[in-house]
Formats: sequence, structure tokens, C-alpha cells
Amino acid sequence: MTLGGALSAASARLVEAGIDSARLEAELLLALACDDCARALLYAELDRELTPVQIAAFEANVARREKREPLAYILGEWGFRRLTLKTDRRALIPRPETEVVVERALEHIREQAKPDVLDVGTGTGAIALAIADEHDGARVTAIDASPDALALAGENRDLTGINGRVELLEYDLTSGLGQLRFDLVVSNPPYVEPDELATLQPEVRDWEPHVALVAHGATEAVARAATEALRPGGWLVLETAASAGERIRGLLDDLGYEDVAITPDLAGRDRVVEGRWTG
Ligand SMILES: C[S@@+](CC[C@H](N)C(=O)[O-])C[C@H]1O[C@@H](n2cnc3c(N)ncnc32)[C@H](O)[C@@H]1O
Repeated sequence: MTLGGALSAASARLVEAGIDSARLEAELLLALACDDCARALLYAELDRELTPVQIAAFEANVARREKREPLAYILGEWGFRRLTLKTDRRALIPRPETEVVVERALEHIREQAKPDVLDVGTGTGAIALAIADEHDGARVTAIDASPDALALAGENRDLTGINGRVELLEYDLTSGLGQLRFDLVVSNPPYVEPDELATLQPEVRDWEPHVALVAHGATEAVARAATEALRPGGWLVLETAASAGERIRGLLDDLGYEDVAITPDLAGRDRVVEGRWTG
């Protein structure tokens, strides 16, 4: 089978499976299966024959994607801000809108030499590691209730080499946030309502951990707990569902946060809500 033939056949199968960017994904899966055919060079070599080992690896990748396993889990890594993070079923795949959460969080600690930051529900470690990567002095505590997610976050901490300033703790936020005090609390908490789960894409619904998706009041719990955990003048930055921006703004107002504001994500949807705790 040639590279060109493999690409055409796989694209057709992925279209049939309901995947929008089938051709692009076929290219990425082919480049993954075949170490000597970088994606950028595929089109220069469409007539080249694949080896049996490459065909078997490509077939396995395409079969996984046909079952709607997320591309990021098959590739095993995903870009987030300046980092490339390991991704697998242990944690949510970092999303582009969460890059805006990091942007807003950094804005509030830019002038501080050594801010103490708490990331609630760290998953892959995306937010915690990106903040430590982009702020030289930030000391980040990252908590998650999922031991699996924390194990993956630990692997990402090692992979990115951001070791000294990110502490990972298994901790359930519903127990409050303890005695520690922070200049910034940031979180992308689970925010899918249980009755919305069935409406999600199969990649999310059937493959990503439900503990990372289903709300169970996590946003409210973080917002309340942060009133205890923030130093006076500290900021809370939260990711929310696009439909919940105004509701979460109201929640922060009611809890006594000041300067409450919403920032849209890259697609213009209300996704990041922040407020300042004056104590
Ligand atoms: C939406 S994911 C966010 C992951 C990561 N911060 C990101 O933005 O890609 C939410 C995370 O919160 C964690 N989580 C859910 N309930 C929790 C709880 N009660 N206490 C602490 N972490 C929790 C989940 O395990 C999951 O890793």
C-alpha cells in the first residue's frame, strides 16, 4: 500500500465514522505510524510503499479513531500553551479555552515576584505547569481528587522539567482548601450537568473521565472555598460552561468578590470568570 492509498482509504473510513477533519487526522495518524514520514513530507512521497509494520501500526491507529477515541489519546501528547503534555485516559485533554484561563491567571500575578498559586482539579497538570513555565517565580500547588490524573500530572511535571515549583497533592476540594493561603486560585472544574452528558460528542462522553466532566457543584465549591484560601487582594479565575458565564458572575458577586469580569474564549464564548477577594 502506498502513502497516498493509505491516506485516501483512512480518510474515507474516518468520514464514515463521523469525524469532521478526517483528512487532517488521517495525516497525523499516518505520520505517527511511520517514523520516517513526517506529516510535512507526506505529499512529496505519495507513491512510496509502506512497510508491513507501518501498515499494521497505521491500521491500529485508524481503528482506534474509528471508535471515536480522541486523537489526543492516540497521539499520546497534546500542545498546551508552550508545553507538550502527555495525554491519556487518566485525565481530561487540555482545551484551547483553558489557555485563556492561564492568560487571565498570569495577568493577575505578573507583578508579583513569588506568588503562591493553587490549581484546583489539575488533571494533566496543564494549568499548573503552564503557569510555572510562564512565571519564573510562581510556586504552584495543584490538587486533584483523582489519583490517576495526579499520576499523569506527575509524569508531565517530569517531562516538562518543571519540577521545583509545582507540588501535586491528592485532595478533594469538597473538604475545603485547608489552612494554606494563596495569591491566586485558578480552576477548570467539572461543569457538565449530569443530564447534558448524553448530548456530548462520543470522544468526550465515552472516553474522557466522568470525574473530570460532571459538575456536582464543583464550581460553587471552588468559589466558596477560595474565599477562605485567598489572601486579601488575591484573584479567583474560573473556567465555566459557555452558557453559565452570567450565572457564575452572579455567584461571585453574591459571595462578595469584587471586580468580577468575564473574558470570552478564542471563539467569542463567555468561558472565563474572575473576581478579586478583598477579605
Ligand atoms: C475539567 S477537568 C480539568 C483538568 C485540567 N485542569 C485542565 O484544565 O485540563 C476537572 C478536574 O477536576 C478534578 N476533580 C473533580 N472533582 C474534584 C474534587 N471534588 N476535588 C478535586 N478535584 C476534583 C477531576 O479529577 C479533573 O481532573
